[in-house]
Amino acid sequence: MADFYLSPLRGITDKIFRTAYERRFGRFDRMVAPFVPTILGNRVKNHHIRDLLPAISTSPDGPPVDKRLIPQIIGREPGGFLLLSRKFADMGFTSVNWNLGCPAPLVAKKTRGCGLLPHKDIIGRFLDGVIPKLPLPLSIKTRLGYESPNDLEALIPLFNGYPIKELIIHPRTGIQLYGGTADLDRFESCLNISKHTVVYNGDIVSVDTFKRLADRFPSVNKWMLGRGIVMNPFLLTELREYVDGTGETKPAVSTVPAVSTKQSMITGFLDDILDACKNHPCPIKVLGRMKEIWRYLGSGIDGWEELSKRVVRCASLREYRTIIDAFNKERPS
Ligand SMILES: Cc1cc2nc3c(=O)[nH]c(=O)nc-3n(C[C@H](O)[C@H](O)[C@H](O)COP(=O)(O)O)c2cc1C
Repeated sequence: MADFYLSPLRGITDKIFRTAYERRFGRFDRMVAPFVPTILGNRVKNHHIRDLLPAISTSPDGPPVDKRLIPQIIGREPGGFLLLSRKFADMGFTSVNWNLGCPAPLVAKKTRGCGLLPHKDIIGRFLDGVIPKLPLPLSIKTRLGYESPNDLEALIPLFNGYPIKELIIHPRTGIQLYGGTADLDRFESCLNISKHTVVYNGDIVSVDTFKRLADRFPSVNKWMLGRGIVMNPFLLTELREYVDGTGETKPAVSTVPAVSTKQSMITGFLDDILDACKNHPCPIKVLGRMKEIWRYLGSGIDGWEELSKRVVRCASLREYRTIIDAFNKERPS
């Protein structure tokens, strides 16, 4: 048994992406939404809330939210965190995630995200302020540290003293951003001393990488997939087939499609996203969203790496469509 989580990728895995992905490729066991910042005062921004609501409204009172979706908050003020969490509890969510890993320099330098990791005292005060009043179970998504890879290991004894639903660990430091290698030895040290459920996150881009990780960490059965899913949207199906095939053999009939079908499925997925943005007031933002996806997309399909480079350079949605249409005409799927 393995649970697969969709990683939050701000600017990519919002509601439009999640809806199109699940329509075309399959369902995740859980999905963490991109972060919402804590706010001071009692205003919650509407666009953040809208992103967490179901895509299609089926009931006059509003449809129930998708309980697999976990809203994520970034910040360090217990008041703002509690305010947002109460809102999420009222909406029907079943847990809330604290972002203790964002490496963006503007965030980390303000002692938020991974910038908090060297500050055990602030983290302790935050948990003391939040946990007794929190209406939802708390999970934490984090990294090994900010500058030092030892921050998290030093924090785990503190975390062990609180009821935390799960700890999602990306084994890099903040200053590494997404470069260099993930430090599996330090991940293992954290895993060994954590009394909480640990979810592994980082660089799962193929069945082979998953197999190596699953073999090395047999006690882990929750896995979070991020960029690997955007690179290869079929990865979720491939991993499920690997796991269902007792980890050794593939099922007799694979549901992973042939390459030509893959091309048309991905094209359909991208069209769904564009279609969902058709009334967006700012086409350049829609182009920016498509480019973010194309920065990762395309491994494994002949010609798509080159296509990706052309898309990332293009200047308008019209040019984007021309490039994609010409490619599909040249290589019909
Ligand atoms: C473009 C981008 C946006 C991200 N946004 C978030 C976010 O909103 N919240 C968060 O916890 N992590 C965020 N992350 C980190 C990812 O969730 C994940 O931890 C990281 O990409 C490593 O996993 P992967 O190797 O499977 O992609 C982001 C990463 C990228 C590349």
